[in-house]
Amino acid sequence: MRFGLPRIAYVNGRMVPLGSAGVSIEDRGFQFADGVYEVCAVLNGTLLDWQPHLQRLARSLSELEIRPPMTPAAFGLVAQRVLRENRIRDGLLYVQVTRGAARRDHPFPAFTTPTLVMTARPFDFRQRVRQQSTGISVVTRPEIRWARRDIKSVALLPNVLAKQAAKRAGAFEAWFVAADGRVSEGGSTNAWIVTGDGSIVTHPADNDILAGVMRGTLIRLAHERQLKVEERVFTMAEARHAVEAFITSTTAPCLPVVAIDGRSVGEGRPGPVTTRLADMLWQEIARQTGWRP
Ligand code: PDD
Repeated sequence: MRFGLPRIAYVNGRMVPLGSAGVSIEDRGFQFADGVYEVCAVLNGTLLDWQPHLQRLARSLSELEIRPPMTPAAFGLVAQRVLRENRIRDGLLYVQVTRGAARRDHPFPAFTTPTLVMTARPFDFRQRVRQQSTGISVVTRPEIRWARRDIKSVALLPNVLAKQAAKRAGAFEAWFVAADGRVSEGGSTNAWIVTGDGSIVTHPADNDILAGVMRGTLIRLAHERQLKVEERVFTMAEARHAVEAFITSTTAPCLPVVAIDGRSVGEGRPGPVTTRLADMLWQEIARQTGWRP
């Protein structure tokens, strides 16, 4: 926390101090979780993978028939302004769009303006680099979410409960596991395993998971290096026998999973494939932003 610098939020066209920023209590984001969001990494003052985040935001909005509140170019200008006002070098940009405020009634209101909020805060990515050498542990939780997890909706209650369970267990993340054993993803990260034959496996980008931007970047980098990536379903039984496991996300680019539900994965320490993939991601981050730990 830096003292003396009030955080500034963008709310529907105005820059306001965070403490006094607000939206209507009739906002459908508040009433129905009728909205979507994005979290983008800022490194060295530069937004990482901004275009893929914008594209995913546009897709989430379109799937819910929420009118985009501004053009992609305008989103970029507002984002830059928010980063500047908050003096963000390394941090996270949060973008939220809801269907807007209207009298509480489930069907879409006929006339309403979408609500747009953007905030930014500092974030220390070096802690993630450090965690790479120790690895993290995950717990498993039953998959109790809805069937459109590809939409980055603000309806995150199952994720909140899963992440709280992980925290209570002293773990970093919770993996959602369906009744038939299939692993979809983590509470706020994508899930990966490395099989005995060196194949890198992650759930296909269908309706069952969020197509993570970091996931997409990693698949692209792995393909460029002729590494074998399989986008297919894997089960907990398979994960238990995996030689390595890891997670990816904007806030945790690539972290080795060394234990699942208290049982070691592979040797119980970060493995060579994950370490190589993480290095590739940090190199890509350096290429895009000039950031170095
Ligand atoms: N979480 N799966 C879920 C359920 C997520 O919420 C996220 C992102 C991801 C990874 O997506 P990406 O690589 O685009 O960050 C996968 C963000 C960071 C959050 O909610 O804070």
